[in-house]
Amino acid sequence: MVELGVNIDHVATLRQARRTYEPDPIWAAVECELAGADGITIHLREDRRHINDRDVTLLRQSVQCKLNLEMSIVPEIVEIAVRTLPDQATIVPERRQEVTTEGGLDLIANSDRVTNAVKKLKDQKVFVSAFIDPDEKQIAAAQQMGFDAVELHTGEYANADGHAQVEQLKRLQKGGEWVVNRGMRLHAGHGLNYRNVAPIARIPEMRELNIGHALIARSLFVGLREAVREMKRLMDEAVK
Ligand code: PXP
Repeated sequence: MVELGVNIDHVATLRQARRTYEPDPIWAAVECELAGADGITIHLREDRRHINDRDVTLLRQSVQCKLNLEMSIVPEIVEIAVRTLPDQATIVPERRQEVTTEGGLDLIANSDRVTNAVKKLKDQKVFVSAFIDPDEKQIAAAQQMGFDAVELHTGEYANADGHAQVEQLKRLQKGGEWVVNRGMRLHAGHGLNYRNVAPIARIPEMRELNIGHALIARSLFVGLREAVREMKRLMDEAVK
């Protein structure tokens, strides 16, 4: 089975558009769990543009499946993660100007700071994942730095069509082999939707997909519970 982590940041984005109390990401997390989500994924950004500190605290108290905190390596956020104790922390790159996470983190360029953050999290027994591109050197660095898992960035695959998409899929398959051969758990995410998810779910040893935009977009029309159920069904069928 491939686990589905639902990224609920967009629910908080909508709330913040009016700086009000609704829609509440806590409600969204409950709906996702009722639909069979295996995890709830949230990104506490430095600028708090969607998920805020209150959400992190309440979600830690209420989420019963896996709580996956996407986070940068700035000291303030690392401190919050160490205090909150999510089940899993996924280290991601973060730039203030970006609309969403663009590309994987360059572990090699940020080696000292990443190693330090991984150590602090692992000292508290948090399972730590690195969001990186399917690049052999980056994957080797993830292993050396002590990561438990790698989330391969699927954005380029999602943005490609036809032959180019087949090439991107091959890159991810190769990357998946490197991750697994180095003893880390294999995750993937970014830009996955109802039409492109199956080949990624079928990558051997794929264990977790983190999906946000497509699910929350569909939920406007079919409801969040049904949107999550449909995605779970597609992922289950892909690996049958
Ligand atoms: N995984 C990571 C590390 C991400 O940063 C994001 C976007 O926040 C996702 C998965 C989900 O991407 P999408 O919203 O495109 O499904």
